[in-house]
Amino acid sequence: MDVKLNEVYNESCIEGLQKVVPGTVDLAFADPPFNIGYHYDVYHDERDDSEYLDFTRNWMAGVKRVLKPSGTFWLAIGDEYAAELKIIATKELGFTCRSWVIWYYTFGVNCVKGFSRSHTHLFHFVCDPKNLTFNSDDPAVRVPSARQLVYGDRRANPKGRLPDNTWILRPQDMAEGFQPDDDTWHFPRVAGTFKEREGFHGCQMPEQLLGRIVRCCSNLGDVVLDPFGGSGTTFSVAKKLGRRWLGFELSKDYVERINERLDRTKEGDPLDGAADPATSAPSTADGRELSQVKKRPRFVRPRDKESEAAATIAATHKSQQKSLPATTMPSSLFDEPPAE
Ligand SMILES: C[S@@+](CC[C@H](N)C(=O)[O-])C[C@H]1O[C@@H](n2cnc3c(N)ncnc32)[C@H](O)[C@@H]1O
Repeated sequence: MDVKLNEVYNESCIEGLQKVVPGTVDLAFADPPFNIGYHYDVYHDERDDSEYLDFTRNWMAGVKRVLKPSGTFWLAIGDEYAAELKIIATKELGFTCRSWVIWYYTFGVNCVKGFSRSHTHLFHFVCDPKNLTFNSDDPAVRVPSARQLVYGDRRANPKGRLPDNTWILRPQDMAEGFQPDDDTWHFPRVAGTFKEREGFHGCQMPEQLLGRIVRCCSNLGDVVLDPFGGSGTTFSVAKKLGRRWLGFELSKDYVERINERLDRTKEGDPLDGAADPATSAPSTADGRELSQVKKRPRFVRPRDKESEAAATIAATHKSQQKSLPATTMPSSLFDEPPAE
């Protein structure tokens, strides 16, 4: 049986991809389980290294087989396996890596004994670097340049420019230092309180991120494949942007909810989320200081050693803020909404 377009199948992509006619897909986007013990409905995300890497080889080879010679493959992956998966894709399967993008996000999962996770790797692979889709003139892909925004420079290209491994406290305060047009992209993760959150899947990707990939690397009517459907973001974006889609997802429950999401989605609908995250939240200069917030009586827990240390760091930051220019103030370390 060949699979049909505009369908999401409730089966493993390993078997499903075998049913796709070879050489028929324009763009594949894959956000596989990261093998970090995340809790999914039916998938156990904690395999032996060798088992996980064999699984990866298997599904990636399936993706390669179904892509057109001009096809593009984007892979989202965490720190743990980024290096191994890039080698499998390029050295074993023959993809060419065009870009290694860092997706930088706020509202990452809080980490107590290490730095909280705030990025995911996005690999942009192609089958043939001389024959590929890259819509660099699409105005929805381009962003305003600093020459346009900051310097009023007559040499600025009126079309803007195409869209760093940097430690950034708040991009809102970094108008010059952090531009969304480099290979570090900032989109907020779809956190628990966000209205676009579907609510049944903890790894829902932002539509704006998929929007950039789909607009740039496919054309109207093209076929977009996602082997790991999840909450259905790739399909929703493909439908909104007039592409055809195809996908797989192991959980029956997720597939039902993906179909509900797709039923609510129409071609031409706007993508969820803010297109420009730097203007969607107040800058520190426009924010409220903690001292301006009316105090409410609350229970104060006796301090243990860890909170004593945190209080000392907070006090040090506060005193440093007074001598720092507004653009680099680190006050937000303490005023971001709590991580999930
Ligand atoms: C990281 S999530 C994808 C999230 C998705 N990008 C989104 O925006 O919602 C990975 C998904 O892969 C599914 N999965 C795991 N193994 C699979 C397999 N062999 N075939 C198809 N889906 C699988 C899991 O159930 C999970 O929903």
